[in-house]
Amino acid sequence: MKTQTKIQSRPTLFNNTSFTPADRPLIINKLKILALIEKLKLENSLSSLRNSVFHIESNLRSVKNDKVGLLNIDSNGETITLSQKYVFDQLNQIAESQTLDRARYYVERFEKAMTEIRTSKINDINLNRWKEYDDICTDSLWIIDKRDSSGVHTAGYWGNFIPQIPNQMLKRYTKKGDWVLDPFVGSGTTLIESQRLGRNSIGAELQENIAQRARELISSEPNKYNVISRVITGDSRELDFKEVIGKYNQKYVQLLIMHPPYFDIIRFSNDSRDLSNAPSVSKFIEMMNEIVDNAGAVLEKGRYFALVIGDKYSKGEWIPLAFLTMNEILQRGFMLKSIIVKNFEETAGKRNQQELWRYRALVGGFYIFKHEYIFVFKKK
Ligand SMILES: C[S@@+](CC[C@H](N)C(=O)[O-])C[C@H]1O[C@@H](n2cnc3c(N)ncnc32)[C@H](O)[C@@H]1O
Repeated sequence: MKTQTKIQSRPTLFNNTSFTPADRPLIINKLKILALIEKLKLENSLSSLRNSVFHIESNLRSVKNDKVGLLNIDSNGETITLSQKYVFDQLNQIAESQTLDRARYYVERFEKAMTEIRTSKINDINLNRWKEYDDICTDSLWIIDKRDSSGVHTAGYWGNFIPQIPNQMLKRYTKKGDWVLDPFVGSGTTLIESQRLGRNSIGAELQENIAQRARELISSEPNKYNVISRVITGDSRELDFKEVIGKYNQKYVQLLIMHPPYFDIIRFSNDSRDLSNAPSVSKFIEMMNEIVDNAGAVLEKGRYFALVIGDKYSKGEWIPLAFLTMNEILQRGFMLKSIIVKNFEETAGKRNQQELWRYRALVGGFYIFKHEYIFVFKKK
């Protein structure tokens, strides 16, 4: 019953595109490959075209051709970086075509992929090379076995989310240089990922000691794109986010990520302004609404809002916190784009109690939580 997604624990970033280690990028001399493609377009029989494709393929696979081959990089020559899998898949598709017209169509598409960049308004994914983005998940069920613990990421803050969540959201819904707001910043996972991916970010956290720890983690993370990653302290219901981003001459942010407490499942502090101390579910929803209104006001129209939330079990009853919250958001100027179900990681503590929970579930007639949700909304 287990479905595996392609989300890697830590893909390597290269020129806006991610490659898995098994799929190292090819750095190709652009002029040379384009000249060969031009020649492919002029072939007038399938067999000669296949021979030419074979010639390109063997040239690319050869390790000895670094002086004269396609992999040769002249000091003043332009290069193009492509994933090996992508290039060989494209060449195979051309070679396997059953008609010359079809083969030419694939050749032209391959040429376009190398010469034109086509992106949407909301991310940097080059749609002319969409097949390369193996690391981006488009399925609604995410089974992620291992949290990304690279760099300064730590599982040390109880209740923090796995970095793969903001990583996926940032890649799908932001461009380099965009601004991201996380009103429940905790240990700073969203800001660490934003910094790695070249996005500016603002995070808000109620507890100063937690905010300070997040600042320390973020400042230990390399900032190769020189972006701003700022953590402020305060109640996200009341903070003036407009003023905060205004200091950086921004009117809006382009992505909102929220990972609130799942009501009182984990108590984060003794502060009554903390959502985990809400006296009831309805009060929790009310507080959430205030934060959605406050932070949502600075989200640019047409941009995205990702909410990560789980449900709760209380006195023999499943409390659908996630859907209750979702319903409220739908009445606040957002449309629903996706509901992602993500498996719940087993903490060491939970693992020890597994048998006890199984017994309780059998006695109580319920199922044990193994999932949480990522709701993706778009501002109308
Ligand atoms: C589930 S954690 C977020 C974890 C975060 N995604 C991470 O990866 O570390 C929720 C955080 O929200 C904070 N919080 C609760 N109520 C808040 C409020 N009214 N304003 C700002 N932060 C709040 C808590 O202190 C806690 O750190």
